[in-house]
Amino acid sequence: MFAPVRGMKDLYGVPAKKYRYIIDTARRIGEKYGYAEIKTPIVEATEVFHRSIGDETDVVSKEMYSFLDKGGEELTLRPEGTSAVMRAIVSENLAQSFPVKLMYYGEMFRYDRPQRGRYRQFHQLGFECVGDKSPYTDAILLCMATEILNAIGVFDTKVLLNTLGDSETREAYTKGLVKYLSRHEDKLSEDSKRRLSKNPMRILDSKDANDREICQMAPLITDYLSKESEQYFQKVCDLLEKAGINFEIDSFLVRGLDYYSETAFEFKSTSGEYRDSVGGGGRYDSLLSLFGGAEVSGIGFAFGIERLMLLMEDAKFKEIAPKIAVIPVSESENEVAFQLLKSLYEAEISAEFIHMGTLSKKMKVADRLKCSTAVIIGEDEIKNGCFTLKFMNCENEEEKIKTVAKSDLIGFLKHIH
Ligand code: HAM
Repeated sequence: MFAPVRGMKDLYGVPAKKYRYIIDTARRIGEKYGYAEIKTPIVEATEVFHRSIGDETDVVSKEMYSFLDKGGEELTLRPEGTSAVMRAIVSENLAQSFPVKLMYYGEMFRYDRPQRGRYRQFHQLGFECVGDKSPYTDAILLCMATEILNAIGVFDTKVLLNTLGDSETREAYTKGLVKYLSRHEDKLSEDSKRRLSKNPMRILDSKDANDREICQMAPLITDYLSKESEQYFQKVCDLLEKAGINFEIDSFLVRGLDYYSETAFEFKSTSGEYRDSVGGGGRYDSLLSLFGGAEVSGIGFAFGIERLMLLMEDAKFKEIAPKIAVIPVSESENEVAFQLLKSLYEAEISAEFIHMGTLSKKMKVADRLKCSTAVIIGEDEIKNGCFTLKFMNCENEEEKIKTVAKSDLIGFLKHIH
């Protein structure tokens, strides 16, 4: 017996229905906000992710599924969608004019420690708006994200919001941070000691308990903001307040990927037991140019679909649409039943052909498949040009059975469903 690979799951039943619902809803809302769909390959050249996400991030340094293909090319199963979308905007020449607004969904891969809501193969739903830098764009994006959450029935969430400033801000902040962290260097984890010289801001995202404690007293980026970044962030906050978005400033939020600047955010649930981030994103000032594209800013976010599913109610997705059971009494009626089935499908009526075993066994199968009505076709029915209908959920014995003329059947079934 084979099981799925550790940290990967088969998707079926209620979760499969939720998945479809999330995508359909997001697509509808995304189109309203002007986003077109893009599907990039699951595999990219490894360099695509090294270049954009950053070598010192956990994602690149520990979690990527990288391999050499048979031709010796270094490839990686995508750990996120933003880098691949940037690569595509440049390689497919999609930026005829700005902004370019793209949405995507699909499988992502990170070799992380599996637990509830954290998998090695998971799914993201993402949006990227490239070539438009304005606090209004940031606020509109967050309004869209909130609208999607509400539309799929995830109501109790808040946005944790921070700014990572412009490059001038980060340069000044990095100096202050290194000064502080150097005083505690001997207590830092090995990873963080290395990052102190290579990429000190990554230490703020460390999962190590000691590192976290040290970081609690670290200087805040908000104290180092350039005038422009401060005004920009203030305007984003004002607009979100006006739009009624539930947000909270979290000055320690740095995100786990290197490409962010200015606005950065994560979505958290405020009720229920699942409190990890259900989504995250932010602005990136030079990502497109890293791939050879124009020097323009962009902003985007991605939801983790499995995490959204954890926060959605199951009840609505357990409902089964009404379905007709087409039941020939014996093999001799199979062909008439087959013809009927075809005309039901042509009339867009959902139906099952149940033809194996005795009549009572067939009725049991109809019950198990939760069919609402059984259309029974026997010798007499064929002779008289009619069908016998049995309403599976009807309690009243007299109303449970009804005979309907062949020519009236489709109209009748459409009427009762
Ligand atoms: P991220 O924060 O790394 O951002 O991932 C976004 C979301 O994907 C997370 O909030 C979480 O819900 C989900 N996620 C991440 N890792 C896992 C996992 N191992 N299992 C289940 N769900 C997971 C990004 O990936 C950025 N590309 C988002 C973005 C778009 N920024 C700008 N544009």
